[in-house]
Amino acid sequence: MAINPPVDATKTPAWAQLEQHFKDLQSEGINLRRWFDADPERTAKLSFEAGDLHFDLSKNLIKPETLELFAQLAKEVKLDERIEQMFTGVHINNTEDRAVLHTALRRPAEDQGKLIVDGQDVVKDVRDTLERVYAFARQVRSGQWTGVSGKKIETIVNIGIGGSDLGPVMVYEALKPYANAGISARYVSNIDPNDLAEKTRDLDPETTLFIVVSKTFTTLETLTNAREARTWLLNKLQDQGAIDSSESSRSEAVKRHFVAVSTALDKVEAFGIDPHNAFGFWNWVGGRYSVDSAVGASLAVVFGPEHFEEFLKGFHDIDTYYRTTPFERNVVAILGLMNVWYVNFFGAHSHAVLPYNQYLHRFPAYLQQLTMESNGKSVRWDGTPVTSQTGEIFWGEPGTNGQHAFYQLIHQGTRLIPADFIAFANTANPTQDADQDVHELFLANFFAQTKALAFGKTAEEVRAEGTPETIVPARVFTGNRPTTSIFGQALTPYAVGELIALYEHIVLTEGTVWGIDSFDQWGVELGKKLAQEITPAISQDDAALAQQDQSTQALIAFYRAHR
Ligand code: F6P
Repeated sequence: MAINPPVDATKTPAWAQLEQHFKDLQSEGINLRRWFDADPERTAKLSFEAGDLHFDLSKNLIKPETLELFAQLAKEVKLDERIEQMFTGVHINNTEDRAVLHTALRRPAEDQGKLIVDGQDVVKDVRDTLERVYAFARQVRSGQWTGVSGKKIETIVNIGIGGSDLGPVMVYEALKPYANAGISARYVSNIDPNDLAEKTRDLDPETTLFIVVSKTFTTLETLTNAREARTWLLNKLQDQGAIDSSESSRSEAVKRHFVAVSTALDKVEAFGIDPHNAFGFWNWVGGRYSVDSAVGASLAVVFGPEHFEEFLKGFHDIDTYYRTTPFERNVVAILGLMNVWYVNFFGAHSHAVLPYNQYLHRFPAYLQQLTMESNGKSVRWDGTPVTSQTGEIFWGEPGTNGQHAFYQLIHQGTRLIPADFIAFANTANPTQDADQDVHELFLANFFAQTKALAFGKTAEEVRAEGTPETIVPARVFTGNRPTTSIFGQALTPYAVGELIALYEHIVLTEGTVWGIDSFDQWGVELGKKLAQEITPAISQDDAALAQQDQSTQALIAFYRAHR
């Protein structure tokens, strides 16, 4: 089914109404202190529940009536149609002519037979592959799967990059307390040889299993690292006397120590990995939307199939919420629409994501690919230029570390930076010392920061503390700096699934308003191609060098002179 051209959001009546609303708020004066004083129900009206997450939007630069305008905009850009098209497998990734079905990766087994796309029973294929991944995970966890010398696997090394790395490593870090089989994981992504060297330096090859993850199985970084890892493995095993130099011994070792995840199973086999040890996925899963497919095999091994199923359930519950909740109360859609509000009306350039949970320390990095590879576009899905700014920069670090680094700029800088604060009521590591509840001290910061950003501190309040007049301006906090508090119960596999699905759908919502195909990534291609062309010029091919621009020639000359 062909998709309609995007609606130009900037030409809709809802956009005009939002412009007027923005002007009205400015002339009234955007003032969260006043808005809170004037409306004792403000927090109640702007709070939401989805899955087991609680959302407080009341410290944002919106009024309850703004939500009606957001909902109107969503309807006028036909967000409901696009959501339905995504869930049902229409080829909304039209520049690659692909369906976008990551939501099918987490549909329950009983949905088999209910989603047939391009002749494929999608949920059946998903569940069949998951069962194979789970069987493999159980074998590794139980010790039934051993290395070539009969030892139990203790370390998984995942080799992948982009979506084949960022999701798995983020979730691995997030769920570390759930590792329950004495197996740990490491993630190698960078083609910089330092990455693989550091990640393998102290490993015993006899107890190490590599999972090579690449959707295309053509990615230079991943295939290069996989070859290097294979050489490392075989050399080390031979040094330790675990194998001999015969071809059969070496290929048996590769079989026992390498598995792969890819959509290109023929290429996996050509690499030398036993097809029985390869798990597939499909071209309707974008790399950055794939952690809940076989791409998460390392997670199924470390945390076990049961936890992986809980993880999928978290995604699915947010999917169902997003698909079925009216836009007026649909907090997932509202967060996307509010991002548009900040980017296109307030001129925000970036968006901070600040998890108050150390285990989520890779979450902002993961979100950078999800959001910026998806919505960093300047043409719409019909090839015409976008009609507004798109694709804000997502960034962040865990609190409280960020507080002692960059929060200064969020509190007192000249830029408006909307921020998502994410915290959980319970911790996996309760306090050791009976005299202090460290988790409560930590949460006090989560509460305090959004309060300070919203309500600030006036010159009168600063003076009342006896501050010398010359220093008063430096100590004033203007407030009115928007934050959303996302509060969960505990950082469980379920909650991590919810959080990922939440941001996936925020991306779709923003992308739909901007008319963007959020599922292609043509912008990464040119650099890859040029790297291939430049490679021969670096060390030997002077003719290839001569074809480079003057800056590149000079840089390569520097390299040749100093290597
Ligand atoms: O170059 C960008 C990209 O294609 C990402 O979209 C993707 O996640 C990453 O490379 C890795 O690709 P693959 O899984 O095919 O190795």
